[in-house]
Amino acid sequence: MPCVAVRNVVITGANSGIGLETAVALAARGDRVVICCRSAERAAVALEDIRARSGNDEVAVVPLDLADSASIRSAAAELSTLGTIDVLINNAGLILSSRSETVDGFETTFGVNHLGHMLLTLLLESPLRAARDPRVINVASVAHWFAVGGLDFDDLQTTKRYNPWLAYGRSKLANVHFTHELARRWPDVAVNCLHPGSVNSGFARDGDTTGPLEVFLRAMPLVSLDAAAGAATSVFLATSDPGRRITGRYWVRNHIGRLAPPARRREDDEALWETSVTLLAPLMDPPVALDAPLGSR
Ligand SMILES: NC(=O)c1ccc[n+]([C@@H]2O[C@H](COP(=O)([O-])OP(=O)(O)OC[C@H]3O[C@@H](n4cnc5c(N)ncnc54)[C@H](OP(=O)(O)O)[C@@H]3O)[C@@H](O)[C@H]2O)c1
Repeated sequence: MPCVAVRNVVITGANSGIGLETAVALAARGDRVVICCRSAERAAVALEDIRARSGNDEVAVVPLDLADSASIRSAAAELSTLGTIDVLINNAGLILSSRSETVDGFETTFGVNHLGHMLLTLLLESPLRAARDPRVINVASVAHWFAVGGLDFDDLQTTKRYNPWLAYGRSKLANVHFTHELARRWPDVAVNCLHPGSVNSGFARDGDTTGPLEVFLRAMPLVSLDAAAGAATSVFLATSDPGRRITGRYWVRNHIGRLAPPARRREDDEALWETSVTLLAPLMDPPVALDAPLGSR
């Protein structure tokens, strides 16, 4: 009987919702799953849940707060000790009623949903490229359509008029642009993004939203998928042959989905990449060219 190597799968924000169910499904098929979470308490509960439901004890936690570059660097260092990372699922995400800033001074939605994941991914280049068939999966959203007109490169931090849906939509559009550009720059890695569906999860709970936005999102369970169904496209991209062969695409329900017109602007893929690297590089100590060729950093 051929020996199938156990894969290392890293999932951000896997203590809740779609990420938690993705972790259960992948652990159940025999992957070694590492969940990256900002709350030690919530991670501990999720760890026991994933082990119990999957029947797989090879599940671990790495602390990660995507709103703090020091935490991202320390998580990347710990994750790199795995040697290889076969699948990285950038799943964590949030929408906030009020504007706030990360530890590093970025608008939080943009900072967590896009910049934090971009930094984590770039810092994991070495273990990703050491894997046989590496995959990066970015959980974006159909909400990227809300970013009518595309990214505002004059105000990426939304300092002028903050609107939660616009800030969220732009952060999800940034996930799509990042997917396109990373796929071009790392041709030996399958890089894809997805919309999971409208999912009844922990999304926008815990005081993240107030007023009409909270009321609207609380009504969503009436029309939503459960979290396990919401994990289906992430699991498909992590396990299927198309998820290994195809790169640089946006998926909805296991099929290539339709992108909003601004998401198809190649010049914005490149501009977001350059701007993001410029924002992130000084946070490295000493500053480094984050997108320099591997081995030269
Ligand atoms: N639910 C939907 O209908 C829907 C639709 C389209 C796209 N999505 C996307 O799906 C992804 C998963 O969301 P979900 O619906 O499963 O919501 P969820 O249950 O709220 O899960 C989000 C996860 O992200 C984590 N997170 C938030 N901020 C973080 C930070 N600074 N550092 C590390 N982790 C952080 C949360 O941790 P805590 O538990 O500590 O808060 C939680 O584990 C998100 O990217 C979301 O944008 C969801």
